[in-house]
Amino acid sequence: MAKDDRVLIFDTTLRDGEQAPGASMSEKEKLEIAFALERLGVDIIEAGFPVISEGDFNSVKSVAKNIKKSIVCGLARSIKKDIDASYEAVRMAKKHRIHVFLATSKIHMKYKLKKSQEEILKMAVDAVKYAKKKVADVEFSPEDASRSERDFIFKIVEEVIKAGATTVNIPDTVGYSMPSEYGSLIADIKNNVPNINKAIISVHCHDDLGVAVANSLSAVREGARQVECTVNGIGERAGNASMEEIVMAIKTRPDIYRCKTRVNTKEICRVSRLVSKSTGFIVPPNKAIVGNNAFRHESGIHQDGILKERSTYEIMLPQDVGFMGTGLILGKHSGRHAFKERLKQLGVTVKGKELDLAFERFKSVADKKKQVFDEDLLAIVEDELKVYQKVWSLVSLESQSGTDIKSKVDVVLKCKGKKFHKSHTGDGPVDACYKAIDAIVKVKGELLDYAIQSVTRGKDALGEVTIKAKIKSSSVIAHGTSTDILEASAKAYINAINKVLSQKTPAKKKGVS
Ligand code: KIV
Ligand code: ZN
Repeated sequence: MAKDDRVLIFDTTLRDGEQAPGASMSEKEKLEIAFALERLGVDIIEAGFPVISEGDFNSVKSVAKNIKKSIVCGLARSIKKDIDASYEAVRMAKKHRIHVFLATSKIHMKYKLKKSQEEILKMAVDAVKYAKKKVADVEFSPEDASRSERDFIFKIVEEVIKAGATTVNIPDTVGYSMPSEYGSLIADIKNNVPNINKAIISVHCHDDLGVAVANSLSAVREGARQVECTVNGIGERAGNASMEEIVMAIKTRPDIYRCKTRVNTKEICRVSRLVSKSTGFIVPPNKAIVGNNAFRHESGIHQDGILKERSTYEIMLPQDVGFMGTGLILGKHSGRHAFKERLKQLGVTVKGKELDLAFERFKSVADKKKQVFDEDLLAIVEDELKVYQKVWSLVSLESQSGTDIKSKVDVVLKCKGKKFHKSHTGDGPVDACYKAIDAIVKVKGELLDYAIQSVTRGKDALGEVTIKAKIKSSSVIAHGTSTDILEASAKAYINAINKVLSQKTPAKKKGVS
């Protein structure tokens, strides 16, 4: 493969991904994801839209200060105040980029911007020149490019490259394009923009018609050398092109794409899990690459084929994407050393007090559950090693409920070494339990969403509860795990309270897709 056959992966999970309704993340969670993306080997991390809120600005700044290998990028509209904010947020990064955008389709120019083509062209060129005075690496996106007049796209792309843009991104903002059409748009840009070899062509596709990945791959075949995507395909409306699907398609079909990415694919499942945890968006079991069933064979014919020769039914190796399967690993007789070593193999390093806490928790789970799988282990540590302070913790829980009685739950919580007790009735045990917790903590939380999932299989599986709650006017996502689903529910709610009590970033404003 030739040198320019490297496709850059531009991850926008922290910007476009976070614009998925209900997916907002805290500064700490974003930083944790940024570290995971750097480990994964993405080339560019779009960390946010700094002008949109103080929270976004601070998150981008904290990513910029900490990330060393990937380029850290901040989004800006084609106006000075946005570009200034973007620059201020990313300037500490070892490698930084400003991404400027402006809509170019007739619909957007007429109704949203109320500007002519000439005015838009001038705004775009001025914005790129202004950004270029601050940083060398400037990307320009003509928003809604796939619905823009082709000649206008050729012209604006040519002019922004003259003004200093080093990457030109062609967004299918509303997910309207189809693969052959989008591929030919990229081919046309290559053939009609005289200075196109001075910039990298990037693509950015939304999944409204379910073809964001297909569109991105079609563009790669036509010479696009940067793909903008998100982990698990999260994003505005139906989401963005999924990073893991693009990376694995390029890796699995070099005969078609004839290019490579720098991604360490073995990190894919880990980052997918982290994003799912932080956003509360559960990955569907049938999701390509990262779904729980993506490498599971149920049919007898398939299992027989796989046992005879793996390639009969498997086109990728599960271990190549870091898929863990459910191999039995530890039990109640396993020691601290084995526990720590297995976590290390799973990419989690815990020491000191955190290790003591996680090990204690593992022992109590192993006592209740005969078999402890890798997924259980990860759920245990994720539950114990929160990125926020544990202000309140659960001491004990006792419940009475049934078909013909009103549910009543007794809860004991601990805060700063002191124990607090309350009992409450409610419409079912979870309601009673949450009311008792509210009475102890003296908050009035509103439960916006509640989901329960088993971590592994079997009647004794750990249950993982994911909730979204509004507490003190902040919406937060939190999780709790236990073999007892009421205990898991209580833990999720206490975690949500702790998250709110330790967060300082204000709520974000609305962004763009
Ligand atoms: O979808 C879109 O057009 C965008 C741009 C800001 C690149 O997200
Ligand atoms: Zn977008």
